[in-house]
Amino acid sequence: MVQLGKIKIEKPAVLAPMAGFTSSAFRQICSEFGAAFTVSEMISAKALCFQDKKTNALIKFCDAERPFGFQLFGSECDTLSEAARILESYNPDFIDINMGCPVPKIAGNGCGSHLLKTPKLAGDLVYAVKKAVNIPVTAKIRIGWDENSLSGIDFAKRLCDNGVDLISVHGRTREQMYKPTVNIDYIGEIKRAVSVPIVANGDVDSLDSMKEMLNRTGCDLVMIGRAALGNPFIFRELCGQKQDISFKQKMDTVIRLAELESKNKGEHLGILELRRHLPFFFKGLRGAAEFRRRATSVNSIDDIILLTKEAQMHFEEENK
Ligand SMILES: Cc1cc2nc3c(=O)[nH]c(=O)nc-3n(C[C@H](O)[C@H](O)[C@H](O)COP(=O)(O)O)c2cc1C
Repeated sequence: MVQLGKIKIEKPAVLAPMAGFTSSAFRQICSEFGAAFTVSEMISAKALCFQDKKTNALIKFCDAERPFGFQLFGSECDTLSEAARILESYNPDFIDINMGCPVPKIAGNGCGSHLLKTPKLAGDLVYAVKKAVNIPVTAKIRIGWDENSLSGIDFAKRLCDNGVDLISVHGRTREQMYKPTVNIDYIGEIKRAVSVPIVANGDVDSLDSMKEMLNRTGCDLVMIGRAALGNPFIFRELCGQKQDISFKQKMDTVIRLAELESKNKGEHLGILELRRHLPFFFKGLRGAAEFRRRATSVNSIDDIILLTKEAQMHFEEENK
């Protein structure tokens, strides 16, 4: 069991923040299947302070996603703490600070993984946000900038000295982006060096790989990113309930996701944004290419119902 402020976290696996994917609707569905907590996709502190319309749309969440935290990125103490104050007024359970994003648009501006190069600033950001809000403050980091500078241990210690309440560690360097093998042992070294709860992240995609991650690192929780795409049911498996999902249940979940997205964003935008999820739900289906192609042009819930119905018929035909 992990205590995060007033919240008790009893389940083992949390949903990773994923820009473009972890919408309120998707988070809700992952929570229902057993995600231990959910996090918004990253929100620009600067854009939030300037009341950017697109950014405001990212603020939506509902109780069914709890425990839930907003993730912010930024590199200025004033802006980040002001943004955290704004978000706190929406009543999330915690604020997470992105210190791991490798993409040049973010890291090139001194935010995300670039903070691994400026540990003092990273500590100051945590301190400033902690002072600004009354809810727990967490951070998501990588293990270092590159193989020659594995700084994750000192970096994590510094965040703890400044009051961070929990750290998620993606076991790759910034240079590694998303590809080479996750450095599980180094995540374990970070865990042993600090006393706050540590969430281990990277390539966990089954009960066995979760067990290996937890056993080898001694971490408190695991974080699931890509393995949840098209497969929110994974959280049920990770909670120890045997995963036996029929293709029909998969298609029903797509329809539910479409309904929730439409309710939150309006049907047009909701379905447009859902398009990128669909190929993941067709994974493993023989002849999926045709359905993936058609997924790029769905425009309404009716289109989704028709597509999933035909995919279901195709699946039954293939498995006769
Ligand atoms: C499409 C995509 C978007 C992502 N967006 C974010 C983000 O907004 N914030 C963040 O901290 N990490 C982000 N990540 C990184 C994931 O949270 C996670 O650390 C990474 O995918 C490794 O975990 P996995 O192997 O379980 O996928 C993103 C990853 C992907 C694939």
